[in-house]
Amino acid sequence: MCGIMGCVGKSGRKSVIEVILDGLEKQEYRGYDSAGVALRCADGVKNIKIVGRVSELVKRVEECASECAGTQSGIGHTRWATHGAVTVTNAHPHESCDGMVTLVHNGIIENSREIRARLEADGIKFVTETDTESPCQLLARIYSGDARSAMSELCRSLVGAFALVIMFRDRPNEIWCARTASPLVVAADGSASYCASDPTALLDYTHDLFFIEEGEMAELTPNGVRFFDFDGTSHGKSPIHLDWDSVMTDKGRYDHFMRKEIEEQPDVLRLTVDTHTSLTNVDMGKSIGLPADMMKNIRRLQFVACGTSHYATLVARDIIESLDNSLDIRADVASEYRYRNVPGGADTLAVFVSQSGETADTLAAARLARSLGTNCIAVTNVRGSTIDREVEHTILSLAGPEIGVAATKTFTGQITILTLLALYLLKEKGSLSASDEARLIGGLRSLPAKLQAILEDEPHIRALAKKHSGSKGFFFIGRRESVPLTMEGALKLKEIAYLPSEAYPAGEMKHGPIAMLDEKLTVVALVPGGDLSDKTLSNVEECRARSAPIIILTTEDNDDARDFGDDVISVPRTEREFFPFVGLIPLQLFAYHIARELGRDIDKPRNLAKSVTVE
Ligand code: F6R
Repeated sequence: MCGIMGCVGKSGRKSVIEVILDGLEKQEYRGYDSAGVALRCADGVKNIKIVGRVSELVKRVEECASECAGTQSGIGHTRWATHGAVTVTNAHPHESCDGMVTLVHNGIIENSREIRARLEADGIKFVTETDTESPCQLLARIYSGDARSAMSELCRSLVGAFALVIMFRDRPNEIWCARTASPLVVAADGSASYCASDPTALLDYTHDLFFIEEGEMAELTPNGVRFFDFDGTSHGKSPIHLDWDSVMTDKGRYDHFMRKEIEEQPDVLRLTVDTHTSLTNVDMGKSIGLPADMMKNIRRLQFVACGTSHYATLVARDIIESLDNSLDIRADVASEYRYRNVPGGADTLAVFVSQSGETADTLAAARLARSLGTNCIAVTNVRGSTIDREVEHTILSLAGPEIGVAATKTFTGQITILTLLALYLLKEKGSLSASDEARLIGGLRSLPAKLQAILEDEPHIRALAKKHSGSKGFFFIGRRESVPLTMEGALKLKEIAYLPSEAYPAGEMKHGPIAMLDEKLTVVALVPGGDLSDKTLSNVEECRARSAPIIILTTEDNDDARDFGDDVISVPRTEREFFPFVGLIPLQLFAYHIARELGRDIDKPRNLAKSVTVE
């Protein structure tokens, strides 16, 4: 929610303005209803804000080029509105009424109203409807020449979530940062220092990054960065090396990041399997670092995540259940888990899955589990993210940076890692036979080639998307291993095509949803071959009898299924547990091409932000 960028000093190849605008473009997925920069120019701070995309901001900054000459430092922001309408006035950066403080913020200041009331009673004039103006005006009120102590006092008076980046009018060579809850990363390359919400915005300058911790502040100057606690005490800090390539954050020959990321899935799968297996053996011991005997004593397994990451955990739950039904497994969305009276303790293992590692509810759920003495593992795609730092044991999904707001390759990364984790856990518990281990690892190894073949079926899926793009809505139905995929298929259509789409276990249709069916509502039925095919096909038949157009997504061995659909998508056969791996790409491509047909903004769908850092 909101992207922040700051730079002070002389960055090698780019001007400070370019650094900030490039950084905002890279982080636009975090919010994109308005944007702004504050640039310290020869004659003071120039604040430029617009309603709209960063590309509009770039044009405005170009128009003001002559006034911004010699910019040596600056901060920028791309907004996802929480408090206050989408207007130029509410866009960041905000400036205190005396012009002393200019500030950008990501998060929510929960005590902003009290602060505002207090300051207004003292005669300070507020001009915006935002919660952010409160820390801005408050800092200007506190500041009397000592930035460190003013920052310290400010941070200790704020309640809520904040990543703050601040310039003081009388400190031209400094930028100050502070963080509670919302992410913030800083870096220095010897001649300039940088800060951003997302590490990918800094990879052009250095790969050695300092992730700002909860309750930590930093002072950025051209010569480097100093770190402080909220009480103002300074401390040292080591960087974390992130070996992502900045080319990975480039769209290349593709029209959309989402399309590029869909295509990267065979590689993600291959890399993940190769990293954690040897021939027919899974070994995650070293990567997790959990004592093996602890794994043996696990009785309860809890998966906790949000959105697509939650659906990935449902895939893992099915795989574990299919092999060993003695574990008490639950898979909760984090926003529910954190407020429930969940069991925990030494015989419980909780696995928190978050692509970004910054989702507020997942972080809160992990804190709850840790407080109960539950063994915790985080699965995240971002080294150095909050979840990686807070949870003792982390397994990285190896998907590389994902820029499209809709998760695609990171889902594949998650289900691969979770499958391997499931196998490892069962092996340690003694409930995975060597033959099942070899069979399933062999199955995983055969998947990348199958995914590649599915990608080649894109023209067919594009044609289907065109044909069905006029539907008033979609139902995705399936059973058991297909159910998580029905949810993911429906979510992709909602988020990038804005079409009503629902997911139901096929057996549930008769309990209500079937009433909605007519010739304008398309049913996408997931019917892999196997023991449940006939039962699902009977449900499909019931939908057909209500005139709904039917798309069947099936495996190549399931000849029976073909006759039940108006349209058929066929994917290679797999181990029954792995249907989600092969069924996924057609559903992603289907949503992608429908969104294209409808002219949607695929990489940055309306109202969404990739990283949900507020509750
Ligand atoms: C959907 C999507 C979201 C995320 C969810 C959790 O395409 O991207 O549903 O899966 O916001 O995010 P993470 O995994 O970063 O915690």
